[in-house]
Amino acid sequence: MKKVLTFDFNNMMADAIGKHGFSDGDIDAIKQKAADAHKKVMSEAGQGWQGWMNLPYNQNEIADDIIECAKGVREKFDAFVVLGIGGSALGPSAVFNALKHLRYNDLPKEKRGGPKFYVEDNVDPERMASLFDVIDAEKTMFNVITKSGATSETMSQFLIIYDLLKQKLGDKAASHIIATTDEKKGNLIKIAKTEGFKTYFIPDGVGGRFSELCPVGLLPAAVLGIDIKAMLEGAKDMDELCKSDDLSQNPALMSAALQFMSMERGKNISVMMPYADSLRLISDWYCQLWAESLGKNVDNDGNQVFVGQTPVKALGVTDQHSQVQLYTEGPFDKVVTLIGVENFRSEVKIPYGFDELPDVNFLCGSTMNKLINTELDATEYALMKAGRPNYRISISKVDEYSLGQLLYCFMLQTAYCGAMLNINTYNQPGVEEGKNATYAMFGKKGYEAKKAELDSAPAKNQKYVI
Ligand code: PA5
Repeated sequence: MKKVLTFDFNNMMADAIGKHGFSDGDIDAIKQKAADAHKKVMSEAGQGWQGWMNLPYNQNEIADDIIECAKGVREKFDAFVVLGIGGSALGPSAVFNALKHLRYNDLPKEKRGGPKFYVEDNVDPERMASLFDVIDAEKTMFNVITKSGATSETMSQFLIIYDLLKQKLGDKAASHIIATTDEKKGNLIKIAKTEGFKTYFIPDGVGGRFSELCPVGLLPAAVLGIDIKAMLEGAKDMDELCKSDDLSQNPALMSAALQFMSMERGKNISVMMPYADSLRLISDWYCQLWAESLGKNVDNDGNQVFVGQTPVKALGVTDQHSQVQLYTEGPFDKVVTLIGVENFRSEVKIPYGFDELPDVNFLCGSTMNKLINTELDATEYALMKAGRPNYRISISKVDEYSLGQLLYCFMLQTAYCGAMLNINTYNQPGVEEGKNATYAMFGKKGYEAKKAELDSAPAKNQKYVI
């Protein structure tokens, strides 16, 4: 295993931050609960909704097929568009942003080396219409991704795109769609079979937010020329590392235990703050993983618990000039996760000049690399001085292998924390009410009773509409 991630938990401890930190005694006291959570997660690895824990081991064969398919897409198409939402979109976006040129779509074709890349994860009509201004549907491959094969947002996008393709390409339309979905359940697989789409399957027991390391994420990544086997290797090595139930050896378990204890002390906000633009969308991916998995009203014994930590995304250094004021002086309700990159893939020097202006000149001769990491050190120090719990993940370099380790570590952390909270980490019943109300308002068959319920809801009081 290559050591590419370092976790520094010092600033979660009372020695560093005082009364909002933990003592060695607190860590000793949580050891058994953490070990129990670890045991539960390990004993269910690969089963039920923990099918995602098999992915580092069982995707190599399908990865070969994906790499072959991606090669063809890279040769033939000018654009690759993912149609999906939630877990079917956030992983592909995060990996694209982390591993490709930060202005990839603006590069000329020769420099890009692959198709332009878009992830369409909303049903905003202006956004959809604007897509048609920048792609040529005839030279675009669309990857429809939906585990359930039923999600209205994704299916509406699919209907629009397929209709357009049929108008432009007739019989050839089907060769512009790849469907990634459940092998047996849902409507997309039925349509895919009838229409003859190329398909990839989301394995059993792999829910949306845990699906980046299966064809959901692997195909878009391979189309972008990303080394998906190195990503899987990174995940596998993190899985091996985390086989230990010793908090001092297992970073995912330690993070989960510290977040769990923080929640118990009312720290119900988890800020994810990478100091690297390449990791900006990792925060979006983490927000879904953490919020949808842990935000639950009942535990596994049916008790009302109303647990979860609200994830907040922030970007260093940008948000030092927006949110950090709140983090250092506002309520003591947050845990800040800082992520730093030791070796950026570019170096930008700050040139000499303006000797007569010492307030400007002190920067000269240095690099942006040094500046961003110095600002990270400075924020870490400021948070520590203000007594704010924070911990730091240092990545030696953002590449396929380190990203595989990082993503898998966050997934394990979520699974452990869910086990410590004794909740169902893998469902999302709170999303259903809004979905069902949409179906009812849209006149979907079978939702007549829900429509009647909505119609009988009290009218809005005009007094409060200004
Ligand atoms: O994590 C989840 O399970 C959800 O966020 C889903 O990814 C999201 O609702 C999209 O579902 P589907 O992939 O079935 O279209």
